[in-house]
Order: sequence, then structure tokens, then C-alpha cells
Amino acid sequence: MVDTSDEWIRERTGIVERHILKQDGLGTSEMGADAVRKLLAATGTSVDEIDMLVCATVTPDMLFPATANIICDKVGIKNAWGFDINAGCSGFIYSFTAVDAFIRAGRAKKMILVCGERMSGITDYTDRNTCPLFGDAAVAMLIEPTDNPNEGLIDYEHHVDGIGRHYLYQKAGGSCYPPTAETVARREHFVYQDGKTVFKYAVSNMADVSVGMMEKHDLKPEDIAYLIPHQANLRILAATGHRMGLDDGKILVNIEKYGNTAGTSIPLVMWDFKKRFKKGDNLIISAFGAGFTWGALLYKWGI
Ligand code: UT7
Repeated sequence: MVDTSDEWIRERTGIVERHILKQDGLGTSEMGADAVRKLLAATGTSVDEIDMLVCATVTPDMLFPATANIICDKVGIKNAWGFDINAGCSGFIYSFTAVDAFIRAGRAKKMILVCGERMSGITDYTDRNTCPLFGDAAVAMLIEPTDNPNEGLIDYEHHVDGIGRHYLYQKAGGSCYPPTAETVARREHFVYQDGKTVFKYAVSNMADVSVGMMEKHDLKPEDIAYLIPHQANLRILAATGHRMGLDDGKILVNIEKYGNTAGTSIPLVMWDFKKRFKKGDNLIISAFGAGFTWGALLYKWGI
């Protein structure tokens, strides 16, 4: 047990509970496959109808093959192809933009997007700087074309800055630092975060890109139904919403229930709050994460 307190975690992050996949030998694909099975059942979709399955994750079951392929195998999807996207906590916004492009190009009719993370598999539970933050989760989404050009993904703006590799990374286990007894002893196979530095970049970049999206589309705070921000830290997402001129009621938050689930946090918010959304609502969806990667979507709710 590290030297921390419930009070510190709640005050500095907003996190109250997290969910952890505890069994050994089960990875992100296990939660992803479970979510896909439930999605297929809920939408009455057969596995044969799926053209593509894309998985956004920084905690793949293994470096290769892709977790997307393992999920397809586990649920019996045989006629599809797919791949993983590694964009850190921007996993949802990047991967959603990518699958949207396949749908718009007419190259796919029914795609599944899985955002999933078993963050507990790369979390060092002796490091108090990171271990209270991360949780495990997976969400699966069915992506289909619409005839209405004024709904769904209206616009996006994404960025990368490789300076982020010095502040948020998992050092060992890839081709640069293959795992050895020494890398394990130095605990380099776990996530490392310089929280203070990442915080500064996250606050300014998430706010800039979200405000920029509003300005580009001439949207005032009253035109935005909700901000759906990546759930890294309550203080970061509140600062983003306030820079956009939004009241707290328009800034959707569920970090208290799940912690930071990296690229999965945004679809978890959409799942928890979906009953609130009305047809025609303008949603700004924004994230910041490892890379650095960051960006914002303007999404018009269509149902
Ligand atoms: O998800 C994508 C990207 N990630 C983020 O956006 C996360 C960005 N960073 C953060 O959210 C915050 O920086 C953290 C939550 C990680 C840390 O919060 P902070 O307010 O920046 O804390 P800090 O690192 O500046 O540390 C403040 C104090 C330090 O003590 P001293 O030096 O002031 O005596 C730390 O040692 O809090 C101490 N501390 C803790 N105390 C109790 C750090 N971690 C803990 C802990 N429990 N778990």
C-alpha cells in the first residue's frame, strides 16, 4: 500500500472508485469481446454483417497481434478486417475520426469501434503518483452511415507533439528497450507520468482546441449542449469547460466512478449520460493524452 489517502485522491483528481480486471491471463480483449457481444445482442446485429473492427488501446493483450484481431476471434467475427490505434487518452477521438472516414468513403457499412484499456496491467502499485489514477474498462460502438449530412461527426481537429514522450510513457517492452531482468527491476514496464508537466500541457491544449472548434463554427456557449471531456482529472476538465464559457451542468463528469480509463473514458461518459442527449444537440468532445495527442470533435446527436 502506498502512502496516500482517499481525501488526497478525491481532492486532487475527483476519483472515488475504479474498476480493475483482476484475473491473470485476461487482457483488454476479454473486456472488449464482452462489450461487443452485448452490442451485437442489443442492436440485433449478426457477426457476418461486420466489415471492420477497430480497437483503440494502449494496453493491447500483447504487442502483436492486434487486440482487434483477438476480439474478432473471441466473438466469431470472420468477414471483417481491423487494426489497433494507439493514441493514448485521445484513443476515442482519433479512432472515431478514422472509422468515420471509412464509412464516409463508402468502404464499410457496419463497423465496430472498441475502446478498451486494462490499465491495471501496466500500473505500478508501488508508485503513488500513478496508481490511484487508472482504471480498467471497455466500450463497444456500432458505427453506420447516415443519410443526414447535418448529424454525427461534423468536424474534428487533432494534434500531436512528440515532446510528450518524455513525460508520459511505458519505457520498456518495445523494440527500443526490450524487456530484460534489469528493465523489470527498474519497473520500466509500468506507466510513468510526470503529472505536473502533463497537467500543464493538458489544461492549455484541451481548452485551446475546444474553444477553437467553437470559434471555427461560430458557436456560443448557449449553442453547446454538453462538453464530453476525457476524464483524467476533474480540475482539467472543469478548466476546459470554463474556458469555453460553459456552466458546470454542461460539463459531463463520471471520473468519480471509473478513474482515468485512458481512451475509453469518453465513450463511458456517452454511455452514462446518453439519455440526456436530444436530437440536434451540439456536443464538443475533447481529449488530451500520451504522445502528446490531443484534439476535439464537434458531434451533432442524431437520435
Ligand atoms: O490521461 C491523460 C493525461 N494525464 C493527465 O492529464 C494527468 C495530468 N496530471 C494530473 O492529473 C495531476 O498532476 C496528478 C493528479 C497526477 C497529480 O496531482 P498534482 O496536484 O499535480 O500533484 P503533484 O504531483 O504536484 O504533487 C503534489 C503533492 C506532492 O507533495 P509535496 O511535494 O507538495 O510535498 C506529492 O508528493 O502531492 C504529493 N502526492 C501525493 N500525496 C498523496 C502525489 N501523489 C500523491 C498521492 N497521495 N497519491
